[in-house]
Amino acid sequence: DMYIHYHGMIVPKETHSSESLTFAQDFAFKDDDVVSATYPKSGTVWMQEILPLVLTGGDLTPIQTIPNWDRAPWLEEKRLALVVDQLTSPRPLVTHLPYHLMPQSFHNSKAKVIYVMRNPKDVMVSSYYFHQMAGFLEDPGTFDEFMDKFLEGRVLFGKWTDHMKSWRCSELGDRIMYITYEELVQDLPAALRRISDFLGRNLSEETIQKIAKHCSFNTMKANQMSNFSLVPKIYMDSDKSPFLRKGVAGDWKNHFTSEQLARFTSVIRKELKGESFSLPWSLD
Ligand code: A3P
Repeated sequence: DMYIHYHGMIVPKETHSSESLTFAQDFAFKDDDVVSATYPKSGTVWMQEILPLVLTGGDLTPIQTIPNWDRAPWLEEKRLALVVDQLTSPRPLVTHLPYHLMPQSFHNSKAKVIYVMRNPKDVMVSSYYFHQMAGFLEDPGTFDEFMDKFLEGRVLFGKWTDHMKSWRCSELGDRIMYITYEELVQDLPAALRRISDFLGRNLSEETIQKIAKHCSFNTMKANQMSNFSLVPKIYMDSDKSPFLRKGVAGDWKNHFTSEQLARFTSVIRKELKGESFSLPWSLD
C-alpha cells in the first residue's frame, strides 16, 4: 500500500509518516510564521518559490543552491524535521492540511495564511498527469476513472470541496488571504503586490518585477531547484509528464467531454450547496 490513512484522507508514504504527521501536530508555530495552504495541484510549488522571496525582500541567493521544498517546507512531510532548524524567521511553510487539522499552536498564534485555490477542473487535470509521473502515487487509470476518484475524494488529502469548505470557513479574519492560481497566471506582479501588502512587506516595483521574473513558469521550469529534476526518476519521471507541465488556466477544456463536465459540475454544486462563500470561477 502506497498510502497512509489520516483522518479519513490518504497521504503518500514516500513523503509522509505517522512520525511526520505527529511532528506537524506538535509543531510550535511562531507569530511571524507564514504558511501557504493548498489543495494539491493548486499552485503549491509556485507559492513555495514566491513566499521566501517576498519575505526576504527578493533575496535571490538561496534559489540556485537550496531546493524549493527546503526553502518553504511542508508542515506535514518527513523532510521538515531535517530542515526546520535551518529556517530563519519569518519562516515560510506550506501545507496541504485542511484548517481543522492544523496544530493547536497555529490556532493560538498570529501566523498568517495564504490560501491558494484553483479551478477544480484544472486541479483534476493537473492531478491526473501528476499521478502518471509520480512513482509514489497509484496509477490514475483512465481519465474517466480518475474523475470518479477525484469527486469521491479517493485522492490525496480527500475531497477538493471539503478542503475548500474547511479553509474558506476558517474564521481567521485578517490572518488569512485568499488568492487564485488564475490570478497568479493572469498578472503575477499584481498578485505579488497583494501578497507583499498582506505580509506587511513594502517591496519596490523593481523587487516585484525581479521576483516575478524569477517565478515565471519558464524560469522555474529551467531551475533544477524548483523543477524536481533532482528527484530520482523512479519517484518523479519527467519523461512521462513534467512537474511544471503546462502552467495555464483552462486546460480542462482539452480534456473534459460535455458529459464529464455535467457530472463534475453537478457533484461540486451539490457538495457546496448552502455554503456562504462563492467560487471565484464559473463551474460551467
Ligand atoms: P499544470 O499541471 O496544470 O501545469 P502544485 O504545486 O500544487 O502541485 O501544482 C502544480 C501545478 O502548478 C502544475 O500545473 C504546475 O505546472 C503549476 N505551476 C507551478 N509553478 C508554476 C508557475 N511558475 N507558473 C504557472 N504554473 C505553475
